[in-house]
Amino acid sequence: KSLRACKFNGKLFPAFGLERLRTIPNISIRRDDVMLCGYPKTGSHWVHEILHMLVNGKSELSKHGKGLGGMIDVMPDIIIDSLSSPRVLNSHFVYEDLPKGVREHRTKIVLTVRNPKDTVVSFYNHVRNLEEFYTYTGEFKDYFELWIEGNVDYGSYFDFYLSWDELLKNQERHPVLLVKYEDIKAQPMENIKRIAQFLEVDVTDKFVAEIVEKTSFDSMKSKRAKATAAKLFRKGKVGDWRNWLSEEQSEAVDKEWRTKMFGCTLYQPHYE
Ligand code: A3P
Repeated sequence: KSLRACKFNGKLFPAFGLERLRTIPNISIRRDDVMLCGYPKTGSHWVHEILHMLVNGKSELSKHGKGLGGMIDVMPDIIIDSLSSPRVLNSHFVYEDLPKGVREHRTKIVLTVRNPKDTVVSFYNHVRNLEEFYTYTGEFKDYFELWIEGNVDYGSYFDFYLSWDELLKNQERHPVLLVKYEDIKAQPMENIKRIAQFLEVDVTDKFVAEIVEKTSFDSMKSKRAKATAAKLFRKGKVGDWRNWLSEEQSEAVDKEWRTKMFGCTLYQPHYE
């Protein structure tokens, strides 16, 4: 069973159409934009709301988060251009494929990461939930094979983070802050403050506590219940992979990490 996707420059993307993919480099970037990047299902909608609240100084969910959470990969330029500043733009592209303006302005980038086992489970459920778009009806074991080979939209999780690791090793090249899904879950206050510091936003403990409250899984899920994005709130847990991956599949991910991510300084997944 194959997954409906779009091949562009030798890489797989969701079937957004070649025209959108061709125009991404020219999306107009403003000086005060903040970029949010990450492999799919690593917490982008969640962190998008946290960033939106920090840059706007208000603990209110974004209006456009109801749909695709500021996803420039799919949003038409006309909508992106109409967003009021300061904007938080979200993308699953690697650094080299982001709009040119991001590199020219040295736009601050917050990069999300999540352990690969929970990520593949979340991605599979995402693909099955959006069956009309992906036309994929395979079982988890079939999807897992595609995913570990990188034969899914946005390609290999491992290649994605390897390419960002190169950039992170040389922070002078570009300001990037790595944010781990498991860390925000375990210590939301500390991690939101760390993000605020990176964005050079002054915050009080009270404001950060409000953000934690408004961006909790339950709170976001209930607020977005009727929105397009409702399906994106599945479980929001660390460790759900134990209900899905066989021992062989779990070992296959560990092996991929040992062999492919050798020398990667960005992140070491830890499984509870
Ligand atoms: P699960 O499928 O494991 O539940 P993305 O936004 O990058 O598509 O990631 C989606 C994953 O983040 C889903 O994981 C979703 O439930 C989880 N998520 C969304 N909002 C969250 C929140 N406020 N807190 C924790 N997890 C959240």
